[in-house]
Amino acid sequence: MVSSFESIPARERIIVALDCGIDEAFDLADQLQGKATWLKVGMTLFYANGPAIVYALKERGFKVFLDLKFHDIPHQVEGASASATGNGADMLTMHAVGGVDMMRAAQKGAVRAAAEYGFDVPATLAITVLTSMDEENLEEIGVNRTVADQVAVLAELTKEAGISGVVASPKEAAELREILGPEAYIVTPGVRPAGAERGDQSRVATPAEAFAAGASHIVIGRPITQADDPAAAFERIAAEL
Ligand code: C5P
Repeated sequence: MVSSFESIPARERIIVALDCGIDEAFDLADQLQGKATWLKVGMTLFYANGPAIVYALKERGFKVFLDLKFHDIPHQVEGASASATGNGADMLTMHAVGGVDMMRAAQKGAVRAAAEYGFDVPATLAITVLTSMDEENLEEIGVNRTVADQVAVLAELTKEAGISGVVASPKEAAELREILGPEAYIVTPGVRPAGAERGDQSRVATPAEAFAAGASHIVIGRPITQADDPAAAFERIAAEL
């Protein structure tokens, strides 16, 4: 199934993951300014620096994917989602295992805060099964399904909750596109340009493969951030697409 994001240039759908300290994050932002559209701020950077990091990146003109993976009672998650939206996040995450009510609460918080601050409503994404988990880990927590089946079950719940989409492995993107339809965000990490170091990622796809499988956006960290010239590495990937 073709995604409705295909009309947006691929380079505007590459999210660069800043998994580093604040000095390096600013250094990377300076190098990528005017080239990359999206930067991803995860828990390490956020918990050390707070909303200021989001403001600073927004001021430099980036869209910010704030990846804090909410999982709490609905009331808390509604508040967290509203706060993240108020900080200026353009994309935020939660765990689908929090359930439909929790995901609905996240959506509600995002819509409310966006109206309050005059911002666009951010994309609200759920993590289905962490890519670090295998069947044995699922069994450990009482889930007796294959990873693929559990991903499909949780994807159905995201649809019911009315959130924007999911974060998923590129290997799951095609099936998720079938389940979620053309409008859904399907954001895939685990992306490696042909010939790049895999690092600790085991199930990888190239940027072109991930988009062809139905990803709306791809997340790339180290192949760009640890390159000698991050801007050139970004440009090479964008050009390849
Ligand atoms: O450096 P690399 O390209 O592997 O970075 C991928 C980014 O995507 C990291 O920020 C990582 O936390 C994130 N991520 C992932 N796998 C998931 C979810 C998020 O690699 N399932």
